[in-house]
Amino acid sequence: MQTRYRTSADIADDIRRAVEDALWAPSVHNTQPWRFGVRGSRVSLRADPDRRLGVADPKGREMLISCGAALYNLRVSLRAQGYDPVVRLLPDPDRPHLLADVVLEPDEPADRQTLREHAQIPRRRSHRGAFRPEAVPAGVLSAMRYDVEREGARLIEAVDQHVKGALAALTDAAEHIQRRTPAYSTEIGRWAPSPRTARKDGVQEGAYPRRTPQTSPHFPARDFARGQGWGTEPANPKEAAAAGVALLLVSEGDGPLDWLRTGQALQRALLRAAESDLAAAFHTQALEVPELRAFIRAQFCRDAYPQMLLRIGTPEGEGLDTVRRPVDDVMVVEP
Ligand SMILES: Cc1cc2nc3c(=O)[nH]c(=O)nc-3n(C[C@H](O)[C@H](O)[C@H](O)COP(=O)(O)O)c2cc1C
Repeated sequence: MQTRYRTSADIADDIRRAVEDALWAPSVHNTQPWRFGVRGSRVSLRADPDRRLGVADPKGREMLISCGAALYNLRVSLRAQGYDPVVRLLPDPDRPHLLADVVLEPDEPADRQTLREHAQIPRRRSHRGAFRPEAVPAGVLSAMRYDVEREGARLIEAVDQHVKGALAALTDAAEHIQRRTPAYSTEIGRWAPSPRTARKDGVQEGAYPRRTPQTSPHFPARDFARGQGWGTEPANPKEAAAAGVALLLVSEGDGPLDWLRTGQALQRALLRAAESDLAAAFHTQALEVPELRAFIRAQFCRDAYPQMLLRIGTPEGEGLDTVRRPVDDVMVVEP
């Protein structure tokens, strides 16, 4: 097939579309801690350290996982538009916030699988609560495992019910610690605005249920409502009561490169899950408490570093709502 000729205005439009897609990545507390600089056919992804969670994420680990997820969307979007995005991670050791340089090379028109993957970007949503009783197909799980490994990370499934129960209990312990530590709860307050806010970031009322259905084992949700009774009513609470498949996303190292790779792996797996109408609920509280993270690493990760704890399953109804800042807030076209 013929590669079409593109003017620099075409390329600028294509990049803008790709950055719009990148924004729909998940990010911790919907902080959207990214910035994009565009020069000709090169896109630079930078971290926005003002949006890092100073208490829960002092090293910027979750910030970089979030940025890695945005980078993956950018790559998929560019491939869907017929480019081969050539990515250099952390290209300049003197500029640690410069996370990636992406240069667009022309390529053949995208194949059907790339277009299918791309179509999942707006469909993917974080789930918060129980799942429908249907089992997660083994084929989807093995495809997710393959995707994650291709991006340089690994998925560990908590098959043993005791392990799953232990992960739920550790999440409960972490949630308890965070709720009674003022610095954590003030920080979550900053990123969970009250209803009818005009903000385009943070976890807002439409993004979590008013009452989280119990599952067995039960993985507690974050305290976004802070006792105010905020949240949405679930579509049909009786149907959804399963915890789903519990997964640990792990990496061999624990530095910025590993976090960026993990974020890309996460998003690749989430888009794969979305192709089968599956969604993920995240429970990363325990990984923000150093002692609990060290315990999870030693007991359940064969000494790899746990980066994300999530559950996968089939959500009920339309899915929860979420917001994003407009592209012009995060993208600068450089002369
Ligand atoms: C590193 C990371 C950690 C997260 N941890 C949690 C969590 O512990 N609890 C939760 O409800 N959501 C968690 N999320 C999901 C975000 O809150 C969610 O991506 C964000 O609010 C945007 O919503 P969306 O994913 O539906 O687009 C996490 C996401 C990332 C990338």
